[in-house]
Amino acid sequence: MKVTVIGAGNVGATTAHILANKELANEIVLVDIVEGIPQGKALDMYEATPVERTDTRVIGTNNYEDTKNSDIIIITAGLPRKPGMSRDDLLAKNADIVKSVTEQAVAQSPNSILIVVSNPLDVMTYVAYKTSGFEKNRVMGMAGVLDSARFRTFIAMELNVSVEDISAFVLGGHGDSMVPLPRYSTVAGIPLPDLMDKETIDRLVQRTRDGGIEIVNYLKAGSAYYAPASSSVEMAEAIIKDKKRILPCAAWLEGEYNLNDVMVGVPVKLGKNGIEEIVQIKLNPDEQEALNKSASGVKGMMEKVNL
Ligand code: NAI
Ligand code: 2OP
Repeated sequence: MKVTVIGAGNVGATTAHILANKELANEIVLVDIVEGIPQGKALDMYEATPVERTDTRVIGTNNYEDTKNSDIIIITAGLPRKPGMSRDDLLAKNADIVKSVTEQAVAQSPNSILIVVSNPLDVMTYVAYKTSGFEKNRVMGMAGVLDSARFRTFIAMELNVSVEDISAFVLGGHGDSMVPLPRYSTVAGIPLPDLMDKETIDRLVQRTRDGGIEIVNYLKAGSAYYAPASSSVEMAEAIIKDKKRILPCAAWLEGEYNLNDVMVGVPVKLGKNGIEEIVQIKLNPDEQEALNKSASGVKGMMEKVNL
């Protein structure tokens, strides 16, 4: 198993480090445009493997030939948000970056599966999908896992219960119009609306929507990376181990949820073939309307991208 992580910044390096510590690949290749950074970080991680007792070779490079025949490619290259910036402000700049890294990566690894992390997430996943020419099951975006993890954390904090017992679903685009689904969010199987009043749920939903900017406002010079990296690894692990996990991921829709030709977050089954199924849960009219609105926002941005 060979995993390439493109972008050796906060999210990329943390992702590579977690992958190495979990021994999820024999070889991890960390790529960046800046010379020295991927080499230095990768060597540092490699030197941690004897202590961690994991047999994973970690290699840093600026040369895509080193990524040849990767099974999974995680794309984190791009600019992160600064205070006052929306994810959409990143659109044009990151579209150029994601297009260029996708072209170079898929030329070396035509059979790989792509997991996109760069923002604005849904549109960048679309850029990678169109640029790669891969089948739709082999290109997906990471956001729903992170947004759901944030929702789960806030539910655990509110109820003072273990995060382990909480499952939550956040669908839609990774932006202000994301669609947390309290009805499908449970604590030990008990639906959230049976455990909290509407006002509390609304507060946690809003904190989830603002989860990214909450961290940006603390960090000032960048955005979240620990939870994003863990979330990316959870998706990679589901594919590597063919676990058939049901996780919310950005996926290309062709009629599912009555949405067409749009890349947006929905529950999918993740296994060795990537997205093996788009899981269609029943949405009530309000939830469907919120998903439609979110998808149409993503579509509007997709139209602004030059491919
Ligand atoms: P960062 O600035 O720490 O790292 C980005 C890296 O990309 C830098 O090392 C930079 O040199 C590299 N890079 C830029 N252009 C490149 C190119 N053409 N080829 C290769 N590498 C290139 O940023 P961070 O915090 O790691 O975030 C990365 C991206 O992930 C951002 O777009 C951010 O908004 C996004 N993000 C998405 C999340 C999600 O839920 N989908 C969560 C967190 C971050
Ligand atoms: C986040 O949600 C910045 O999209 C990133 O933290």
